[in-house]
Amino acid sequence: MAEIVLKDVCKVFEKNQYAVSDFSLRIRDGEFVVFVGPSGCGKSTTLRMIAGLEDISKGELWIGDELCNYAEPGERDLSMVFQNYALYPQMSVYDNMAFSLSVRKVPKKEIRRRVEETAEMLGISNLLNRRPSALSGGQKQRVAIGSAIMRKPKAFLMDEPLSNLDAKLRTHMRVELADLHHKLGITTIYVTHDQTEAMTLADRIVVMKAGYIQQVATPIDLYNHPTNMFVAGFIGSPAMNFLRGQVKRAGKGAAFLTEGGEIFPLTEDQAHVLWPQHDNRALVLGIRPEDICAAPARGKVYGEMKGTVTACESLGNEAIVHLENEDGEFAARLDPDHGARAGEQATLYLNMANAHFFDGETEQNLFYQWRNEA
Ligand SMILES: Nc1ncnc2c1ncn2[C@@H]1O[C@H](COP(=O)(O)OP(=O)(O)OP(=O)(O)O)[C@@H](O)[C@H]1O
Ligand SMILES: [Mg+2]
Repeated sequence: MAEIVLKDVCKVFEKNQYAVSDFSLRIRDGEFVVFVGPSGCGKSTTLRMIAGLEDISKGELWIGDELCNYAEPGERDLSMVFQNYALYPQMSVYDNMAFSLSVRKVPKKEIRRRVEETAEMLGISNLLNRRPSALSGGQKQRVAIGSAIMRKPKAFLMDEPLSNLDAKLRTHMRVELADLHHKLGITTIYVTHDQTEAMTLADRIVVMKAGYIQQVATPIDLYNHPTNMFVAGFIGSPAMNFLRGQVKRAGKGAAFLTEGGEIFPLTEDQAHVLWPQHDNRALVLGIRPEDICAAPARGKVYGEMKGTVTACESLGNEAIVHLENEDGEFAARLDPDHGARAGEQATLYLNMANAHFFDGETEQNLFYQWRNEA
């Protein structure tokens, strides 16, 4: 087990084409770190540089207390699990799992003990004599993970290991991975497109965009305090709603005036930070679907938003209601008995205390800075 440190790591594939730029991160011993971001943002490239499958163009990679930029993949003592789990088709499950230890000349008895122990932990003890072709996707994936664990590596590197599995199996394997990490405590770097995987597995999430880290934070912090509009819109489903507008003086406080002409009152704290400092500046108000409701509760500050209901998606326990007006399209997460109907006018209420505010040009969260300076 080991700490992994990246210092200003860059990857340049072609002249001046940066796939990864100035990537700096300290991954603590035993930590589960998840890389997320849109396709092509550099997640796999970063992971492959850590694994040694890709040269590091600039910067430093430390594993434990060794500088590993030029270490061969085999010397780094890391185990990698890919989306397309690489199993040897002609070997049994047992031999697949035993392989990495047999080549290291570990005594046969010790190999048997470790294979049996690992198979037990992964619930595949009854499959040890089968060939990979006789296994389901989830079983193959467990064997691949089993093979990766066998060596007791310094860290696991996983690149979308569950993305070939169906939804139910994914959920099941996700829980197993969490359990496994809990039991083994091995440093893990995990790449995924799946927000639920990122939110549930990660100690910390690294959000990337176009080769750059946008934010590194715990799942809850990322959700509640996104540093900019990109992170705010990327984490959460349905995504955060955005409204463009400006802050204006209103009575003793201040209000947010949307481009479409709606006026939302601000809380005292918000007014204090936004007015007059951001008077006459283009701003963006962000509000999550669950912070929009059908009926206001007493004692809270609400912004009233009118519009046409374009769709109601009922999920049984809740409904996602889509509303359209001059300011754009919005999704609200409402109780199933919300009463809205597609095609009709409706008024929804924004819980202003939970609104986020971004600079319209830089897209930075205005309260993130304020919170960190305070
Ligand atoms: N061998 C290569 N040669 C040139 N460019 C490459 C190479 N491998 C990756 N790239 C480029 O580097 C960038 C990052 O790719 P990478 O595979 O790391 O993205 P990713 O975040 O893993 O995306 P995905 O979610 O689609 O897997 C992309 O623009 C990609 O086209
Ligand atoms: Mg990738």
